[in-house]
Amino acid sequence: MKLSSKNKIFCALDFTELKQTCEFVERIKENVGGIKVGLEFFFKNGIKGVESLKKYNLPIFLDLKLNDIPNTVSRAARNLLELEPEYLTAHLNGGIDMIRSLVDIKLKTKIIGVSLLTSLNDNDLKKFGLKISSKSYVEKLSKIGYEGGVDGMVSSSIEVKDLKNKMPKDFIFVTPGIQLSDTNNDQKRTSSPLEAIKNGSSILIIGRAITNSSNPNQTLKKIISQLEENGN
Ligand code: C5P
Repeated sequence: MKLSSKNKIFCALDFTELKQTCEFVERIKENVGGIKVGLEFFFKNGIKGVESLKKYNLPIFLDLKLNDIPNTVSRAARNLLELEPEYLTAHLNGGIDMIRSLVDIKLKTKIIGVSLLTSLNDNDLKKFGLKISSKSYVEKLSKIGYEGGVDGMVSSSIEVKDLKNKMPKDFIFVTPGIQLSDTNNDQKRTSSPLEAIKNGSSILIIGRAITNSSNPNQTLKKIISQLEENGN
């Protein structure tokens, strides 16, 4: 999937209040390719809240990271798919049957598999009792996703570099954990916007670097021109 620099940038709207979320989208809508809402927004505003974001005519990335037994996931997902978000996420470690149960009922929505959260790294896997590197773990999950029929997956850009050539050309690589400077937060497998795009990411999910910026549009324009200057 080849998008223009602006269209590759999805802002993670990690806000609780609908009013604050709408005001923020109103402010940045000309400089992003899409908007992502997740658990924080959804647990307060639900389906109706997501519906009210449709008026901005931006692709909606519904990041609810579904993970349960196949029957529960597909029955729950029907309620979400009626909304026709452009993207919906589910954890790949829910297993191939769970992924298939979702892919089988999807309509227009693209199903995106979440691999290893970018807030986790090799040390966390060790604590889970798994003797595997995050790179190999993500590769294994990518196989589950591919065989399950997902349209794309979420991972850090470090893994995209290795996976890009193993997946079909239109496979969507979504990368969170994007940092503009050496910010210290909960993300562990991070990259800059340019690094991620160079590694082959199709969509960059950027949250706090935009939402906490004193001038979000200036921050976005800086990212866009950096990508454009480098031919992306
Ligand atoms: O603020 P920041 O840019 O770190 O936000 C990243 C966003 O991407 C958050 O909304 C987070 O839930 C989401 N995400 C992630 N790691 C994943 C999948 C989604 O950080 N593997």
